[in-house]
Amino acid sequence: MIEISIMLDEGTIVFYYVALFAIYSFLGWIIEAVYRSVTQKKFVNAGFLYGPFIPLYGIGAAFILILQNVFSTWHILPRFLIFGLALTTLEYTVGFLSEKTFKMTLWDYSESKLNLNGRVCLQFSICWTALALIFVTLIHPVALSAITKLNAVYIEIAAVTFVIYCFTDFVFSVIFITEFQKKIAYLYNEYFNLSNIEIEKIFDSFQRLLNAFPDLNKYINKNINNNIKRIVSSFLKSIQDKIIEEINGRRPFEYEYYETIQDIHGHEEFIKLKDYFHHNSSIYDHVQEVAYLSYRICKYLKLDHRSATRGAILHDFFLYDWRDHDEPDLHRKKFHGVEHPAIALTNAKKHFSVNEIEEDIIKKHMWPLTFVPPRYKESFVVSFIDKYVSSKEFIDEFRKRRKRRNTHKKNMRSKKPINSRI
Ligand SMILES: [Fe+2]
Ligand SMILES: [Fe+2]
Repeated sequence: MIEISIMLDEGTIVFYYVALFAIYSFLGWIIEAVYRSVTQKKFVNAGFLYGPFIPLYGIGAAFILILQNVFSTWHILPRFLIFGLALTTLEYTVGFLSEKTFKMTLWDYSESKLNLNGRVCLQFSICWTALALIFVTLIHPVALSAITKLNAVYIEIAAVTFVIYCFTDFVFSVIFITEFQKKIAYLYNEYFNLSNIEIEKIFDSFQRLLNAFPDLNKYINKNINNNIKRIVSSFLKSIQDKIIEEINGRRPFEYEYYETIQDIHGHEEFIKLKDYFHHNSSIYDHVQEVAYLSYRICKYLKLDHRSATRGAILHDFFLYDWRDHDEPDLHRKKFHGVEHPAIALTNAKKHFSVNEIEEDIIKKHMWPLTFVPPRYKESFVVSFIDKYVSSKEFIDEFRKRRKRRNTHKKNMRSKKPINSRI
């Protein structure tokens, strides 16, 4: 900043500061837009504002330039540590203020190593320090020499336009954020009364904000899911005993059950599920278990037990080994938990007729792991039974393996020659 004051008179200097602020806010937007677009594999208009500016970068640049002047005589190493510390403090403060003002988390590093309250983390602080180094040695000298070569009138016009534009954009962005919060509140209060199209419309309307700040999903998740979880858990608690009784009880032959799924359970494509190991047996056995219990419980609750049964039997209709697969649409194993409901639904629709409740059951049976909560009581019941059955199967398999290991160890010991045991 001192470099400008040497070159310009007091009257125009403020316009140059604003112009530099605009340039650095724009460069910040480019950095964020590239980072978000690359990580999300689509173009993302980053930042809080509608326009291509992130003023936080402008503020960061101003901080760095002030510190550069104050500590200009210091050795380069402590100077850059101060830059890193200042930018980290700035990031923490803005994160804290946005949480307090808008009651939402715009970014969250709580899953990164060495983070502080999820607002800052070491990994990004190192990036900011490196950026500060590039900024003072390269970006600022180039921007400064370019800007001082321009006619002062152009700079004045650009600076005034930028201030007016930023102010307008900020006002509209605040209105948008407030609207977003209202929509979220409306969504979780009216969730069960809204149609799928209405819900999708609401989600679409704040898609830009979610792309720019993907961590906002956690805010929505917290607001919608917590409320729904509360309603659902009291509903499920009331039928939990019945579910346990059904799981452990004897199974009479239910003609209606087999009649409901007769086009599915003998279908040549569906039978292929027998070839894939799931938790302790094949996927085929697992879905039959979940479907039968869903049938009994939903019938007991006087819900749409036919849809519940059909949705339940198709809920894991994916034809691959989820532990070791090379599915083209599912290249990373860790995403199986989130992705397989959509794969199961595609398969189900390809071979059978699927109604709205069945679709909801298949698509959302992994909730709350998947983002959008179920819409129907039947979906909650199937999702709950699936978790119950899966946990039981995992535990059984674990016990079976432990028993097998212990027997193997025992056999090995008994096979050892007598003198080696002495
Ligand atoms: Fe599943
Ligand atoms: Fe399942």
